[in-house]
Amino acid sequence: MQMPARVRQLLDAYDARAPLEAARTPPSEWYFEPAFAGWENEHVFARTWQVVGRVEQLQRPGDFVTAEVAGEPIVVVRDGVLRGFYNVCRHHAARIVDGAGCARALHCPYHGWTYALDGSLRSTPGFAGAADFEPRDHGLKPVRVEAWEHWVFVCLDPDAPGLDGHLGAMRDGLRPLDLTSARFHERVSYELGCNWKVYVDNYLDGGYHVPFLHKELDGALDTRRYRVDTADRYCLQSCPTSNPSGVRGGATAHYFWLYPNLMINVYAGLMDVNLVVPVAPERCIVHFDYYFTGQPAAFRHDSIAVAHRVQMEDAAVCESVQRGLRSRSYDAGRLAPGKEAGEHLFHRLLHAGLSAG
Ligand code: FES
Ligand SMILES: [Fe+2]
Repeated sequence: MQMPARVRQLLDAYDARAPLEAARTPPSEWYFEPAFAGWENEHVFARTWQVVGRVEQLQRPGDFVTAEVAGEPIVVVRDGVLRGFYNVCRHHAARIVDGAGCARALHCPYHGWTYALDGSLRSTPGFAGAADFEPRDHGLKPVRVEAWEHWVFVCLDPDAPGLDGHLGAMRDGLRPLDLTSARFHERVSYELGCNWKVYVDNYLDGGYHVPFLHKELDGALDTRRYRVDTADRYCLQSCPTSNPSGVRGGATAHYFWLYPNLMINVYAGLMDVNLVVPVAPERCIVHFDYYFTGQPAAFRHDSIAVAHRVQMEDAAVCESVQRGLRSRSYDAGRLAPGKEAGEHLFHRLLHAGLSAG
């Protein structure tokens, strides 16, 4: 696909070479132009490793999970090894399996074609007499799949670097934190009326909005000691948390963001992982996956309730920003040098990724 002229103009309108002190945000059309969103699907979401499930969902033979990546239906199944496929029937393109579960074979609900767990086509009811029809040429189309820590990733681009290259230096950044002892508890999903990048920008503003928008959260963080560290493809924001006795400097909250849309938030005894999935130029879904290390139910319940209140505040402001980006009065803004380095990294990585195609 050729880069649409409007996308070219919008990329040229962003100066990726400007240092943080002089940088501007991308032009607002990046956040609602449909051609731009289409280009992002092809050059960001179809070319990077995307989380589609958790390793613990794929333990037994036949366990499967489904997801959408770059608008494509995907299934990953445990067949000894993990295998990923386009979840699209080779007959008339129906989606084969939904949700997650365990199956002996992948059975299309439309006309009953059945695929083995290795993707090969095993049965085609009522298909006798088809000329030059080779079942072995009609297996499911594979996609790359790899796992790291708790997560299963797929990549639709056969030429992209492996998952290790995608994770880059974040692997080492996360190493001091023990993620393996955390156990998945539940997923809470939110659909927001904003472009996915508005949500990521909000996440990456270095705690700038916390004292103003999140009064409750602000009391739990020592925001004077908020830090932002950026590396190749990730940003770590960290902040000491104040404990209930008012003594500061106990535990530290770590907020890891990996380009383009994954956030791993680690606190004492709790991890929540956010995945931001675009569903339309001005809509996205944000999944919150909560993990705990064996705390009592009351702690788990309270932690999720606090996170929900914070998320409601973020959701409202993200939708307000989306409307503002549409205003004829606004095109681009500036970045706070002491805080918004993560956003600057995000915008430059996006610019590079989108220009490369
Ligand atoms: S579309 Fe799957 S069997 Fe016809
Ligand atoms: Fe927030």
